This record gives sequence, C-alpha cells and structure tokens, in this order.
Amino acid sequence: MELFDTSKSILQEIKLDEATFGKVKLLVKRDDLIHPEVSGNKWRKLKYNIELAQFQKKDGILTFGGAYSNHLLATASACNRAGLKSIGLVRGEELNTSSNENLKRCSELGMELKFISRAEYDDRNDKIAQEAWKEEYPFYLLVPEGGSNFYGMAGCQELWKELPDEVDHLFVAQGTTATSCGLAAGRKEHTCMHVVPALKGFDALREMRKLLFPFLVDPDAIEESLSRVEVHPDFHFGGYGKWNEELLDFIRFCEQTYDLPLDKVYTGKAFFALIEWLKLQQFQTPQTVVFLHTGGLANG
Ligand SMILES: Cc1ncc(COP(=O)(O)O)c(C=O)c1O
Repeated sequence: MELFDTSKSILQEIKLDEATFGKVKLLVKRDDLIHPEVSGNKWRKLKYNIELAQFQKKDGILTFGGAYSNHLLATASACNRAGLKSIGLVRGEELNTSSNENLKRCSELGMELKFISRAEYDDRNDKIAQEAWKEEYPFYLLVPEGGSNFYGMAGCQELWKELPDEVDHLFVAQGTTATSCGLAAGRKEHTCMHVVPALKGFDALREMRKLLFPFLVDPDAIEESLSRVEVHPDFHFGGYGKWNEELLDFIRFCEQTYDLPLDKVYTGKAFFALIEWLKLQQFQTPQTVVFLHTGGLANG
C-alpha cells in the first residue's frame, strides 16, 4: 500500500567549492518533499504500522507526542488518508485542541487528542503502562512516540533502495533513533553512517542498541551494523528544541544559497554537522556523501 508517493523525494545535488570542501559529491535525499504533513522520515516510519493496523483490522492508531510533535501530525494525516481513526496522547494536561496550530490541525484531521500529565507521559514506554493503554483502547494499534518500533525501522531500512549504490557517507539527524537504526540495519558494507543527535548528552549507540536488540537478537549482527556508525554529539545547540543565531543564520544561508529548506530542531543541526565535518576532511579522492532530509518543516 502506497498512500504517499516517495518518488517525490528527489536527490538534490548541492554544489560545493572544491577548495573548501575537497572532492565531494553532496546529495540531499529530499524526503521532506514526500508530503507537507507526512514528511521526511514520518511516512517511512508509519507505512508498515498503518499496514499492520489494517491487517489486524484495528479501528486506528494510538500514539504519543508533545504539543509540537511532527509525528502526531503525520499520524493524524496518514490515518485520515488511510481511513483509520487516530488517538494522540499529548504531553501536558494544561493543553487543549486549540493550544497551537499543530494540535489544531491534528484535531481537524480527526485525531482525538487526550492530554495527559507529564508523569503519565514519562511512562509511555513502560510495559505495564502500555498494557493498560492497550486494555483501554483494544481497537487501536499502539505505536510508540516517533513511530519508533520494528515497523518504523523496517520502513526506514527500505530507503536504501532509493539511494545510489556508491554512497560513501550517509548523514542523518537523530531523535528516537528509529530512522538511524533502520538505516544501520540495511547499511551497505562500504557506507559509513553518521548520526547527529538533536538531544544533549544523548548516548546514541546505547539507544540504538536498545532499539535494535529485541529485533536483531544476534549481538554480533548489532555490533556489526553499528561498527560503521559515527556519532557527532556536539551539534545539539544547547539541547532538544534549542537553537541560537548561528544556527538560524546557517539555515537562512542554506535556503538562499543551496535552495535547501531546513528546520531548526533536527535537520538544520545535522546539516550543520555535515558541513563542519566536510571542511575537516578535505577529501582528495572523490566521495559521495548523502544527507537524508528527514522533514520537520511543518512545525517551522
Ligand atoms: C524532522 C525530524 N528529523 C529527524 C527525526 C529523528 O528521527 P528518529 O526519531 O527516528 O531518530 C525526527 C523525529 O522523528 C524528526 O521529526
């Protein structure tokens, strides 16, 4: 089932000056162009979750997110198009359906929003809490925050089919790690993956192991897929949802110079990391570097 057309996600070449960056072919995989609301990695992570909900004859999907969550909006929009219902458990009991444009739009798309306390939200990945939610909503498939489960990873793994064979380096922003785990699990042998956490003090490889372990039970296979993952931990700009003028200037520069729109929570930071890394490499042998644009533009 293809609700959204991933062929809209082009490979955009960014021309870089060889004197500054060395011999590099930089391509941006524009997953942000898939759909304005189900953009970037969102459709990749939702695709098999939606198929599963339909296969299990569920009424819809129950999932989690903060007030500005790209994932909540994408779930509301994709479920709407798939003819499924959706429920969003939103962090913050003081909020309501018109607290911001994101929540308003989720609600317009038919998502039933339930506002829960921060303490309750903190239990979103707790097995006992999840069992209680499943009991309360038996006709809904429970999908974790950020679409971060096996089906989410499987959808992201498929992305390799749309990339050229000769990718030397692939850069991706990281939140829950589902996107990077799916990509790492399907990594071509010669490709080095680079992950850029949007969170401060985030132990990227530990989090990736935690997500991969239940599905790839062979520890050697996990270590093998993580062996060529390089973490760039110093580009969080103060932490999740934080930014400064330097980042905003950089985002404006990329939009004007490369015709590349980036967001300030994930892709702006990851692309910044990539550019800084490239300047240090000064490759003398030609390299193909791909940046995965994971979207995030709907919420600025
Ligand atoms: C725009 C954007 N980029 C990157 C990410 C990080 O993806 P993941 O949570 O799969 O690590 C997210 C969160 O889903 C996101 O909204």
